[in-house]
Amino acid sequence: IPVDPFDLVIFGGTGDLARRKILPGLFRRFCGGQMPPEARIIGAARSDMDDAGFRQMVAESIHEFGDKRHPHEDQLPAFLERVSYETVDATGDGGWTALKARLRPGTVRAFYFSVGPSLFGDLAERLRGFGLADDDSRVVVEKPFGHDLKSARALNATLARHFSEQQIYRIDHYLGKETVQNLMAVRFGNMLFEPLWNAQYVDHIQITVAETVGVGGRGGYYDKSGAMRDMVQNHLMQLLCLIAMEPPARFEPDSVRDEKLKVIRALDPVDWHHIVRGQYAPDGDTPGYRHDVEDPRSRTESFVALKCHVSNWRWAGTPFYLRTGKKLRARTSEIAVVFKDAPHSIFGADAGRHRNVLSIRLQPNEGITLGVTIKEPGPGGMRLVDVPLDMTFADALGPDVEDVPDAYERLIMDVIRGNQTLFMRGDEVEAAWAWTDPIIEGWIARNEVPKPYDVGSSGPDDSLMLMHKDGRKWREIRS
Ligand code: BG6
Repeated sequence: IPVDPFDLVIFGGTGDLARRKILPGLFRRFCGGQMPPEARIIGAARSDMDDAGFRQMVAESIHEFGDKRHPHEDQLPAFLERVSYETVDATGDGGWTALKARLRPGTVRAFYFSVGPSLFGDLAERLRGFGLADDDSRVVVEKPFGHDLKSARALNATLARHFSEQQIYRIDHYLGKETVQNLMAVRFGNMLFEPLWNAQYVDHIQITVAETVGVGGRGGYYDKSGAMRDMVQNHLMQLLCLIAMEPPARFEPDSVRDEKLKVIRALDPVDWHHIVRGQYAPDGDTPGYRHDVEDPRSRTESFVALKCHVSNWRWAGTPFYLRTGKKLRARTSEIAVVFKDAPHSIFGADAGRHRNVLSIRLQPNEGITLGVTIKEPGPGGMRLVDVPLDMTFADALGPDVEDVPDAYERLIMDVIRGNQTLFMRGDEVEAAWAWTDPIIEGWIARNEVPKPYDVGSSGPDDSLMLMHKDGRKWREIRS
């Protein structure tokens, strides 16, 4: 179903995120028939460029980062007709009146701040000052949303001076991933899981977001952040919220976000013995983290594993283990709900230990698998084996799965629809920082050096020990 006609202004329209994600994503939605003919996309940035120059850049971005399997070359000219550009000075007066002249009355207006947070205030002020934004306009902001609680509060306050909370869309692209939403469908659309979804039946939960990439060309940003700020404070925390939250009364923005906020607020402070930080080490000719960020003494972590507790009635006693890192063995993101052993084995000790595991795979091969125990087929007596009940979406949904929008596409369309369910509210972001700040402060106070780990491994050995000590085991990182 097409969304309403819109004017989408992308500040930082020539930047990396716009080129890699936003513009190719918009093109996919255009090809998917979701963008009405009246939709307009206006790039805005400092660079001196005209419409033709920007269209050329957009076309190149789509060639480079767009959908290679369905390039839809024939549709590109029609898409580019909807694209234009305005040179704008975010901190001065230049270009704002001209940009305003491009906006049409009576059309949904959204402003995407694909720029560093230091410019949020300047942009917001000028959008209001020059009369580009009104009380119905939407602004989209990207992470990093602050560096700690104090800076996040300041950013929220800056935005709040110009826009109401209902107008602010804070993107966490993990919430736009297909499987993440499916997690809610599985939990709240079935009778099967919810009765078991608590400390009485769940032994523990593991959340792994493993990447094979290093810090690439983002060393400058990353070295000031580290895995805790870059991944845990936002993406892993959001996954944890969706797994742990109470059923919201409705799938509506504030019902969902209220429940997520309660989870963050119920998190205990993390015991520093329950956290392992790592940094990928050089290996022969392969450079390590410190080389990649050009700081031979950097103490920033490219890996974190931790154990935490959600202190509420539902989860008391069930630990949550989180880990994420760069340059690991495989690119795989998975949430595993590991159920407790059956209370008594009628098959005796020889039958071994078998546990149900519900695995929710975000990438690759998005899907959900339930590990169940059955009798090994054949005449060998009562031998038990674990087999997966596999709900890989690509198999279950057939060829249509190709049309599943990627995270950014979906979220941008939600902005146009005015649906904030999959966006972070200001108090959520602040609560997440309030939980991560003491962890980071502890590292600084103790002068902690991250543990080295081999490129292509599962992280530092200490992270394996984190589980072993509890008589548990991480699931394997494999693609
Ligand atoms: C970003 C982080 O938010 O998420 C990156 O800044 C990380 O460091 C990326 O690589 C991972 O996203 P995805 O969708 O590739 O899992």
